[in-house]
Amino acid sequence: MPPLWQGIPLDHKCKKRTCGRCAVTLLAGAHFLAPKTRREREKTNQPMKRLACQARMK
Ligand code: FES
Repeated sequence: MPPLWQGIPLDHKCKKRTCGRCAVTLLAGAHFLAPKTRREREKTNQPMKRLACQARMK
């Protein structure tokens, strides 16, 4: 389940990959996450940025 759906208070708006407001920078643990989907890559082209409404654990 993505972090945003776990009650973690993060700035967000759409929860469906369109606004990009939930983008976070990973400081550690990137290897625990599943690869970005094509639509997430379109919103976050930096490797350590993920959308909190979309990123999932492996
Ligand atoms: S809340 Fe809009 S992209 Fe995640």
